[in-house]
Amino acid sequence: MRSAPLTLLLSAFLCALGCSDGDGGGENGGAGPTSGPGGTTSGSGGTTATTGGTTSGPGGTTSTTAGPTSGSGGAGGDMAGSGGMGGAGGSGGSGGADARIPAASASSLREAGSKANPPILIGAAISGSGLNDGNYKRVAAAEHDYVTAENEMKWDALEPQPGSFNYGAADNIVNWATSNGMKVKGHTLVWHNQLPGWANSLSGSAAVEQAIRRHIENVMGHFKSKIKHWDVVNEAVITDSDTGVGNPRMRPSVFFNAMGAEFIDFAFQVAREQDPEAKLYYNDYSIDALNDKADYVYEMIKGMVDRGVPIDGVGFQMHIGPPNNEAGGPDVAANLKRFSDLGLEVLISEMDINRCGGVVTAEEQLTYYHDIVEACFSLPKCVAITFWGINDGRSWLNSWSGALCNGQSSQSLLFNDQYQKKETYNRVLEALLGR
Ligand code: XIL
Repeated sequence: MRSAPLTLLLSAFLCALGCSDGDGGGENGGAGPTSGPGGTTSGSGGTTATTGGTTSGPGGTTSTTAGPTSGSGGAGGDMAGSGGMGGAGGSGGSGGADARIPAASASSLREAGSKANPPILIGAAISGSGLNDGNYKRVAAAEHDYVTAENEMKWDALEPQPGSFNYGAADNIVNWATSNGMKVKGHTLVWHNQLPGWANSLSGSAAVEQAIRRHIENVMGHFKSKIKHWDVVNEAVITDSDTGVGNPRMRPSVFFNAMGAEFIDFAFQVAREQDPEAKLYYNDYSIDALNDKADYVYEMIKGMVDRGVPIDGVGFQMHIGPPNNEAGGPDVAANLKRFSDLGLEVLISEMDINRCGGVVTAEEQLTYYHDIVEACFSLPKCVAITFWGINDGRSWLNSWSGALCNGQSSQSLLFNDQYQKKETYNRVLEALLGR
């Protein structure tokens, strides 16, 4: 696998001069988007709403005011190069640097990320049980400045009974994060998985709409002063295999079955109404490089941008190795860039690289860690890199069906069971320093 900092820099430079697409890339090369997301929009007719105009509600439901955040004034600006989502295609925007300048040196990942210009948030999935472990807490806070709750903000945890909310475990994580100077991304408002039984058995579009609205309003309202980044919709697309290849389509779920693909626009509109300042993200797995699923999600997101749905960015989970895709740096770079060229932020949102099953070798794992982090570093609108856990011993992959680990360690993260830095850590730090 080649590591190609020069190629990446050169292509960033050429693109600043006005390249469009079709940049080299890769093995999967020519594969243009095949079938677009069939009927994502019904009823669109699509007003474009370039400037904060009203977005036509999906399928003619009530139109909501909140237009796309046209990067109005710069307050806060914790995320790089905001620039909002202005007109599609406008990649630059105000203050949008063409290249990121690395920190000269850093003694932690979070220092390397925060001293880069523009900065990159360095995140980790944090579990409530992990916070009972002193070593876990120490490493998590020393190395990261961004937190995603691993399970504690999922629908089954927060709303176990209809309209009855339970925030204790999530509050613990948020309070720990903020007291350590870390930001939090809420994960996740609308997802087919880890739903309570009552939500899974809803039927009819009115009941499902009402449940989505109540959940988003309540949850975003509860955390409003502390959480300004949200995964609004997670994993709405599937393919025949978890690697992102074959027959991409909308995933059947209680949401899709009742509302069609419009549940996605609806969720983003409700979220924007609830907190006009929050960054709103779509998140998915095996869309990391150029493949069928990434092409389909690209068309879906482009459609949302074109019709003024208030989306600020896309999270690429970056679970590499079984059961998900195996994605190399150059293809990841080309893929992230096309989404960024829609005027969106991009995030690496759940990174780990599974060694179980021997599909990914130790050497490949190091190369992937370096080159994928480098792909984010090379793109100024790549604003965050989150690792899905702190240390190997606690990785979800060790016991996840399909991950081929069968209780063995996935060896997938940056710290070993004793919380010592692994070579994977060193390669990530190098890439964050532009090396
Ligand atoms: C995983 C957690 O890590 C596990 O502890 C849990 O059993 C299942 O979910 N995509 C996502 C995350 O968006 O929420 C998932 O987290 C991993 C895949």
